[in-house]
Amino acid sequence: MHTTAVRTICAPHYAKEIIDGWLALRNAEGYRKVIERGAIFVAERAGEIVGFGEAQPGQVLAVYVDPSTARLGVGTLLLQRALEIARRNYDGPIRLESTLNAISFYERAGFRAIERSGVQRGNVVVPVGVMQQG
Ligand SMILES: CC(C)(COP(=O)(O)OP(=O)(O)OC[C@H]1O[C@@H](n2cnc3c(N)ncnc32)[C@H](O)[C@@H]1OP(=O)(O)O)[C@@H](O)C(=O)NCCC(=O)NCCS
Repeated sequence: MHTTAVRTICAPHYAKEIIDGWLALRNAEGYRKVIERGAIFVAERAGEIVGFGEAQPGQVLAVYVDPSTARLGVGTLLLQRALEIARRNYDGPIRLESTLNAISFYERAGFRAIERSGVQRGNVVVPVGVMQQG
């Protein structure tokens, strides 16, 4: 789902080389540790996983939705859950690094873009917007 969302929803906002480099080293096994320590939560629809998220105090780390269920509110539900986790025992501003395609999604949830940045993914630097709420 992660790679499908990137190839479908993020891809129009990035050069092909960036998308290919971003995903080149990913495989299902790479998600095992983070799942085993309970850091990933999912959204289900009719028994199928249609999205996942990850957060830690002060930070939203991931919100990804299956492209076939995009624009149905799944991302908003996942973000609400991520924000509950981000605010646990934490009073400061909540930050995230948004892919360029998701900036308006986070703006609608009250985040504002602070600066452009880039995150290293494999051999490429993926441009992102640093956003903050509160
Ligand atoms: C960003 C993402 C999680 C949004 O999930 P979603 O389930 O489609 O979002 P929602 O249906 O809850 O959308 C809520 C609002 O956000 C805004 N929004 C969502 N996707 C948008 C898009 N592609 N373009 C513009 N606005 C968008 C809209 O205002 C939308 O409300 P509307 O549909 O009534 O107009 C989803 O597009 C996704 O998985 N993208 C790929 C992964 C990604 O970029 N994740 C963020 C990494 S930081």
